[in-house]
Amino acid sequence: MRPDGTSSRSISELAQHRLSRRTALAGGLATAAASFFGTVARPEAAAAAEAGATVGGPGMRRLLGFPAIPPSVADQVVLPPGYQYQLLFPWGHPIVPSGPAFTEDASNSAEEQAQQAGDQHDGMWFFPLKGKRSGLLCVNHECTTEQLLHPDGRANWSPEKTAKSLAAHGVSVIEIEQDRDGQWHLVESKFARRVTMTTPAEITGPAAGHPLLRTSADPDGVRVLGTLNNCASGPTPWDTYLTCEETINKYFYFGQEPPPAGSAEDRYGIGSENPYPWHTTDARFDMRAEPNEYNRFGWVVEIDPFDPSSTPKKRTALGRMEHENAVVVRGSRGEAVVYMGDDTQFDYFYKFVGAESINKARKHGRSPLDDGTLYVARFEEDGTGRWLPLVHGEPGLTEADGFADQAEVLIHTRLAADAVGATPMDRPEWCTVQPGTGAVFFTCTNNTARTESVNAANPRLNNRFGHIMKIDEGGDPSTEKFAWDVFLLAGDQASGATVPADQAFGSPDGLWFDAAGRLWIQTDGTQPMVNGAPQNNQMLAADPDTGDIRRFLVGPPRCEVTGITSTPDGRSLFVNIQHPGDSGTPANPRVSSNWPDFSATGRPRSATIVITREDGGVVGA
Ligand code: FEO
Ligand code: CA
Ligand code: CA
Repeated sequence: MRPDGTSSRSISELAQHRLSRRTALAGGLATAAASFFGTVARPEAAAAAEAGATVGGPGMRRLLGFPAIPPSVADQVVLPPGYQYQLLFPWGHPIVPSGPAFTEDASNSAEEQAQQAGDQHDGMWFFPLKGKRSGLLCVNHECTTEQLLHPDGRANWSPEKTAKSLAAHGVSVIEIEQDRDGQWHLVESKFARRVTMTTPAEITGPAAGHPLLRTSADPDGVRVLGTLNNCASGPTPWDTYLTCEETINKYFYFGQEPPPAGSAEDRYGIGSENPYPWHTTDARFDMRAEPNEYNRFGWVVEIDPFDPSSTPKKRTALGRMEHENAVVVRGSRGEAVVYMGDDTQFDYFYKFVGAESINKARKHGRSPLDDGTLYVARFEEDGTGRWLPLVHGEPGLTEADGFADQAEVLIHTRLAADAVGATPMDRPEWCTVQPGTGAVFFTCTNNTARTESVNAANPRLNNRFGHIMKIDEGGDPSTEKFAWDVFLLAGDQASGATVPADQAFGSPDGLWFDAAGRLWIQTDGTQPMVNGAPQNNQMLAADPDTGDIRRFLVGPPRCEVTGITSTPDGRSLFVNIQHPGDSGTPANPRVSSNWPDFSATGRPRSATIVITREDGGVVGA
């Protein structure tokens, strides 16, 4: 743990200080709102509620039209009455119907795996195809559960096992279509592809070609094999897909001794986790042989799903960290503005502001993401904040400070952010932008290592349950100043949560505003007990204006709920169930879950599901 340099005031003092009227309002109103609205949708209100329209009198807008469900520990995906889900794309499912079928004993080869859904589905996005009830779905495969990926798990590790594991990472692009009976299915498609840990990718932007990115296989430092630990994601206004490389440290072997304290390798967590066994069969992952390979991961990667022959691009101007997701909006000059979290205890929240307008860049064949300024957030105690530019030559970021050039500022983004005085946060994960207001919300999932001091933006010691932050830039995404607030404190009442006791949740991770303004919250981690009952990870929906918050989905044991996107009409909601039953072993794969197949000889599988309403209405309304 690093000192976060903040004063240590009492938790309650700080919580009182910064929990704004808005947050207090949200917490206070929530119970009333839940009891007022927490019943099955009344027929007369259904039509108006469908679009989030005004109901119940002037100024009373009702966004949430479903009854909250109770906690669950069932080996099932639980939804409110009137909702159903369809299994669409589990691990091992071929990316086209003619592809190799999944074998439930995990005996598919590496070659077959490269034509099937990867493991551990996380961020995703639905790109509609014009004129049809169909679209392209891009799905991240963050990592692998090796004990379930191979028939004998991690035993007898081999080059073939490394190859299968590499093939189970990355991204799937599939084409899907909805039948007249409402069922979705994959189709044979020219767009279908897998991007894996061996797919050639190009390094672009200010760090391309830098000596720290050169390896024996790529002396120019511009061409990498693959993308890794693809956590969350985001679409761009120009219809490409950003997939974000997160926890890269666990794939690279440094040696018996950990890196020296204070080194860049140490700051990026190398040696802090038992690595995958890849390095035992492939020297690319052995830092003693290839000290720079790990610098080529931890980037935001752009994929054009509409051009299956395109090369994924690692956009170095967006910085290198444990990226969670990337949310792109247009700035006041038409430039790309990208919000991003770095998911590690005491790491930071960032934004990138492009140098030229999206239209101008694209007109001239340039990426809107290759030239611009990367900023890191500083949250002041009084509820104001600043975006601090990470620009070489500025105080703290000079050659004397250890940054030879702007490329090094970007390759070592975390060191640069440390140097300028950014605010260390409680694991910033997903962010999302509120329709209409432009306010940026982001999750701080938890931080049990915060044992010494709190600050206004991270107001709890031993933060087991996490919180959600809100940044208000006054409608100008290009600004360097903002106001901020703690939107809610998650957890149980004993932890000081600002959500009603019966809707208690912990470890908010996924976060997404749908078009109507419903805030969907997905969890990954410790969940508080509700009325004495434990609960699996879940997904809730909130109305930020009224404080209404309701549990919508509970997943099977040991899963986290990830990835969320919908059709433009909001009637099909795609959600990922990641690593259900991941405590399974080769001897007993079904020890904690057998979702979704429930085959007596199968194993649990991460999967994309599609949620619809039985009456065909908008999901959540
Ligand atoms: Fe991949 Fe931070 O979750
Ligand atoms: Ca996450
Ligand atoms: Ca997670």
